[in-house]
Amino acid sequence: MSKSKIWSSNSIFILAAAGSAVGLGNIWKFPYMVGSNGGSAFVIVYLLFIFIIGLPVMASEILIGKYGRKSPVNSLKKISLDFQLNVRWKYLGVLGALAGVLILSYYSVFAGIAFSYIFNIFPLGLENPSEYSTNYFSSLAASPLRLIFWHSIFMLFTCAIVGYGVIKGIGRSVSFLMPIFFVFIILIAIYSSITGDMNSTLSFLFSPKFSALTPGVIISAMGQAFFSLSIGMGAIMAYGAYIPENQLIGKTVLSIILLDTFVALIAGIAIFPIVFGNSELVVNAGPSLIFETLPVAFYSLPFGSIFSILFFILLSIAALSSAISLLEPFTAWMEEKTKLKRKMVVSLLGILIWFIGLGSIFSFNIWSDLEFKGFNFLSGLDYLTNNIMLPLGGAFIAFLTGWFLPKEFIRKSLNINYFLFNIFFFCLRYISAGAIVLIFVYSVL
Ligand code: TRP
Repeated sequence: MSKSKIWSSNSIFILAAAGSAVGLGNIWKFPYMVGSNGGSAFVIVYLLFIFIIGLPVMASEILIGKYGRKSPVNSLKKISLDFQLNVRWKYLGVLGALAGVLILSYYSVFAGIAFSYIFNIFPLGLENPSEYSTNYFSSLAASPLRLIFWHSIFMLFTCAIVGYGVIKGIGRSVSFLMPIFFVFIILIAIYSSITGDMNSTLSFLFSPKFSALTPGVIISAMGQAFFSLSIGMGAIMAYGAYIPENQLIGKTVLSIILLDTFVALIAGIAIFPIVFGNSELVVNAGPSLIFETLPVAFYSLPFGSIFSILFFILLSIAALSSAISLLEPFTAWMEEKTKLKRKMVVSLLGILIWFIGLGSIFSFNIWSDLEFKGFNFLSGLDYLTNNIMLPLGGAFIAFLTGWFLPKEFIRKSLNINYFLFNIFFFCLRYISAGAIVLIFVYSVL
């Protein structure tokens, strides 16, 4: 393994993986899921799943990537050949690479919207800022051209970084993007907790109300844990291929998971005090929570427009460092398979993804009436990827490491003591695999 194909330090790998995990899922989706699923019950179950499902699956992805040192498809092929397993395990990598491309096609549309909000500065002296904000969002959603513009800009940034390659492009950019990101989100959380209603926020997020715990809440918490950690499609496996040889996987996974969880909770603390402190805003607003209501909240606060700009810069940075991990598995695979230059592969894939993204854009406007079995293009794609492809991928990864690879090989690769390993392996073998199959069956039926 040549030096240029390894992250320059252990902390760069952690930043890159945390950069993948932390994204729209933490800042946009986590707060609205918490708001729509009754608060603390969701939070507590989510935290449980992060540790008993997320940790084992993420560790499995990293150790397969580190063993294979190639794209997920070829790392899976190598590990299955070396351990005399069926070579068809590699199709798990193909499924994942495909899921990444499909997810990126709509992720880029939402990230583009977030990006456009950096420039959405409310005029001073509005009589009714909430009406202005609602109109702004609906006029943006109604305009294919404006959405295409922001989607194109976001895809250009993503392709440029991946085109430079993992070490030069991703490694370098995360090493300055992620620290900026952490500083910003903490600043905004401090600002919100001083100016908004912090007491209601803390009791909403953390005081246990188990009456709110329904099967639906449990299932959504599990799905959110997958999406937020970027597991189930090989993104973390692709990054694992460049992990320094001496890096301890056990400790590394724990750091990534703690960072991701910290950011989701901090995002809650940044957003809910403003919502609770403003009688016009509701916690269960759903996906529109940050796009329609947060600018209004910022507007009514001192220095609000500066914080609004900071907030959406932050969201765009987080989305960008996640988007690159969605593109990396397919890119690495094509680079090995076709011998085309990385920049060429990325350009071709970028055009393809941009094109698929048009379908999601048109779902907001000219295709909004076009439905197939109750799904439009966007909701259908979202369902296919998050409810089918990711859980299926995660379950197979857990089956591969929990049931097919030698237990001693897994223990050595993780490099943790026997006591912790036994807990880990139990979760991997029985809980992760079983629970994932459960979400899968539930969400498909
Ligand atoms: N985890 C990212 C977020 O929270 C999104 C993401 C990036 C992702 N890579 C992924 C989701 C791979 C699933 C699989 O926004």
